[in-house]
Amino acid sequence: MIDQATIDRIMEAARIEDVIGDYITLKKRGANYTACCPFHNEKTPSFSVSPARGIFKCFGCGKAGNAVTFVMSHENLTYWDALKVVGKKYGVDVKERELSPEEQQHNNDRESMMITVAYAQDYFTKILHSHVDGKNIGMTYFAERGFTQATTEKFQLGYCLDSRAAFTNTALRDGYKKEFLVKTGLSVERDSGQLVDRFYGRVIFPIHSISGRVIGFGGRTLKTDKSSPKYVNSPESEIYHKSNTLYGIYFAKKAMMQSDKCFLVEGYTDVISMHQAGITNAVASSGTSLTPDQIRLIKRFTPNVTVLYDGDAAGIKASLRGIDMLLEEGLNVKTLLLPDGEDPDSFARSHSVAEFTDFISRHEEDFISFKTKILLSDSKNDPIKRAEVITDIVRSIAVIPEAIPRSVYIRECSRLMEIGEEVLTGEVAKLRRQKLYSDAHDAPKPQPQPPQPPADGDAAPPEALHTPPIPAFVENVFCREQERELIYLLLRFGSQSCFGVSVSAYIINEIAGEDLSFQNLIYRQIFEEYRALLAASAAVDVRHFINHPDQKICELTIDLLSQKYTLSKIWKQPETPDVEEDRLRVEVPKAINVYKSKIVTQAIMRLQAELEGKSGDELDVLLLRLGELSKVRTKLSEMLARPVF
Ligand code: UTP
Ligand code: MN
Repeated sequence: MIDQATIDRIMEAARIEDVIGDYITLKKRGANYTACCPFHNEKTPSFSVSPARGIFKCFGCGKAGNAVTFVMSHENLTYWDALKVVGKKYGVDVKERELSPEEQQHNNDRESMMITVAYAQDYFTKILHSHVDGKNIGMTYFAERGFTQATTEKFQLGYCLDSRAAFTNTALRDGYKKEFLVKTGLSVERDSGQLVDRFYGRVIFPIHSISGRVIGFGGRTLKTDKSSPKYVNSPESEIYHKSNTLYGIYFAKKAMMQSDKCFLVEGYTDVISMHQAGITNAVASSGTSLTPDQIRLIKRFTPNVTVLYDGDAAGIKASLRGIDMLLEEGLNVKTLLLPDGEDPDSFARSHSVAEFTDFISRHEEDFISFKTKILLSDSKNDPIKRAEVITDIVRSIAVIPEAIPRSVYIRECSRLMEIGEEVLTGEVAKLRRQKLYSDAHDAPKPQPQPPQPPADGDAAPPEALHTPPIPAFVENVFCREQERELIYLLLRFGSQSCFGVSVSAYIINEIAGEDLSFQNLIYRQIFEEYRALLAASAAVDVRHFINHPDQKICELTIDLLSQKYTLSKIWKQPETPDVEEDRLRVEVPKAINVYKSKIVTQAIMRLQAELEGKSGDELDVLLLRLGELSKVRTKLSEMLARPVF
């Protein structure tokens, strides 16, 4: 750990144009610098560096950050390691916070496991290339599968001898501890206390972390009988978490970034054959169903995924869930069904890269037509089945976070299933509402905060300028855009004044006073942090968020500060000019009112639905609440001078 004072010193010393200039060539343009973006493939520069703000942003791929996060992404380092790199450049002595004995022990254990695994990889690879059995059995197998010498070397493939404990005994003799051999799963302890090799008699596929260190193995049997499982894999451990690892990510990440696309396949051999064939942006989920962490891993490099399916896979239907998960994370999903009897491995081996690429471009399809085809395949003319398929597809569309792709898919579904767009839009909206309500109920409630003294010089705004309060019975709802707008105003104009208080104090008072909280977790975190900072000091420096260790917060801040619809062209100016207070007096209450309107409108809809079938007292309570809300809505509309919908 690095203490905050040191982090601050590094951030102050770092000149972003120098740091980035160490990696790419920057051209001066006015107050800023430009270059071709190192994070995606481009011919005309859309990557911009602002020395005044200490930030970079690519207007092509959207990547943004500060000096440290640049090094972090470019070098694939952790935040802490990137800090050290930048600190070193400026001669800032990085004093690490003393680790507690437990933390120290934990780190040592992890490192010992890494070293043990690296040793094992080296051992298995040497056996494959030099031992007579390695050559005759392992190498022969890989050669039969069509893997070239270069491929076996690139993927560091290996072989584990077919004798119970050959590896374990060698490792112990070489001084590797039993504890770590067992913890990494390389050796298995029998009840008798005897240690045996987990992978004996198997060819070895090392699994690499994103930075290229080996963290685990898959071992494939060479036997054709079904008596033992085809693959044995390293168990979960402190260094290997199957659910956040993708096989091949280390070898694919650069191509994923450059081609802005990722192929998702199932197995080790699929990845290897595709890479060998020249399609190097392929990764595998390794047989399990996709996890959210794996999806986020892909998303770090590209939002575009094509899922490859075997031509005869019986399991396609079961794996459709994976598509929904990709959609839910906001990825653009395509699918590719291979010809009957082919899997990515066989197809890559029997076709040239040109043929494969050509096949992809002709057969890749969006998930709607794919899913429709798969689901309808066994019952084309059954109307009930058709309705079920529509419901199913509507569900998939409803999980997509962005409105525009949603509407594109609705149109596509309408065309394919011959059903009205409005009907589909209505269904999608209904599902999303249901989801919002359940999310709102699930969201953790924020910690109650003690009442906060007004910051220096901040008097409360005159009563008339308060936005209408929301009744306490109203639940939070999800309203991303409105929350985003408020966070934008907070970060961008927080320290300017309007109505005699700072914009930030005004927003925070109007919202925090309401017992409402943002439903988007990042926005909420920024809001709460801002509020705490404001309570502790008179003004908040937005650099706190630009230089935030949480990369998501850092990126979002920069994104908001440099987006195109800003009131002034802040990106172009070395120092951001203030906007006129008149403007803020209009925009700030408006944003708060729009946010509140959204909440109130949802609450009204919800109440109306609840009214149905109710009678007596219950009905009365609901009607009263409805009346109360309706009044708030009127007030909000008046303030907004437009009807609230
Ligand atoms: P496959 O059975 O498709 O394996 O399982 P494969 O990699 O294509 O192997 P070949 O072509 O038959 O040699 C896909 C993936 O599922 C995992 C492995 O990660 C495999 O690559 N798997 C499969 C296991 O972990 N254990 C198994 O027993 C089977
Ligand atoms: Mn296979």
